[in-house]
Amino acid sequence: MTVLDSKVALVSGGADGIGRAVVERYLAEGARVAVFDINADKLESLARDFPEGLITVQGDVTRYEDNERAVAETVAAFGKLDIFVGNAALFDYFVPLRKIAPESLAENFDRLFHVNVMGYLNGVRAAQEALKASGGSVILTVSNSGFYPGGGGILYVTSKHAVVGMIKQLAYEMAPDVRVNGVSPGATDTEMKSVEGISGRAQPLNHIPGFHENAANAVPLKRMASPADHAALYVVLGSSEQSPMTTGCVIHSDGGWVAR
Ligand SMILES: NC(=O)c1ccc[n+]([C@@H]2O[C@H](COP(=O)([O-])OP(=O)(O)OC[C@H]3O[C@@H](n4cnc5c(N)ncnc54)[C@H](O)[C@@H]3O)[C@@H](O)[C@H]2O)c1
Repeated sequence: MTVLDSKVALVSGGADGIGRAVVERYLAEGARVAVFDINADKLESLARDFPEGLITVQGDVTRYEDNERAVAETVAAFGKLDIFVGNAALFDYFVPLRKIAPESLAENFDRLFHVNVMGYLNGVRAAQEALKASGGSVILTVSNSGFYPGGGGILYVTSKHAVVGMIKQLAYEMAPDVRVNGVSPGATDTEMKSVEGISGRAQPLNHIPGFHENAANAVPLKRMASPADHAALYVVLGSSEQSPMTTGCVIHSDGGWVAR
């Protein structure tokens, strides 16, 4: 038997990067998985690669109705929902507050927070009843930026600190039926995009010159993560057999920022 046999998961932002690695690992562990993402092409390629045990839902985490539809399609396809993984997020290209023009601060804030914070709230709110019915669990992707400065700019770091608070409050509100935890990756080799317009120089994360070396040198373990490095932690937290007494917790998977 594999760890997630008979479990059903919904993963937001699961068409690429860390989310896709979680989806692949969940499938390997026996789960059936719904992938909710804005990127239709990446969803199509995922569905081609995994024709069994997987459905895709194209939509935007900032729209509540899309989250509702993702949950409804998951339950329609697989009969229930055991694990909701909130994972879709945008970066801010390390832009400090002084470099955001005052007149565009509110717009950049709204765009980034709407995805990184509101997107998670939308997903959990839409999944809440189904998770209560299954006695399931929520896992939210945080970041080393949820705990420490310097791994992003002001908006990204602030949004990820908010996610840490969200995990604690939701764990409190959703107990004893549903456990709520987080996984906190450090720099990872993905094409994470930044909020449109926040910097004229912005490009996908792993295209930034020097990103790999700088990320490796920033941590005691001296290497940058690949998306698959984090995936087993989502399995442990998603399994009510493997982590039945863990809620309100964030597991760090960041090469040791705490030990710098
Ligand atoms: N890459 C890193 O270095 C790193 C480090 C720490 C934490 N994280 C976190 O990991 C998570 C995944 O990031 P990633 O690096 O895999 O990025 P990624 O860009 O590879 O994956 C993010 C996915 O989310 C989707 N997405 C973006 N906006 C969306 C929206 N509005 N609605 C639905 N889907 C949307 C994208 O299409 C993409 O498939 C994020 O929460 C990010 O903050 C990443």
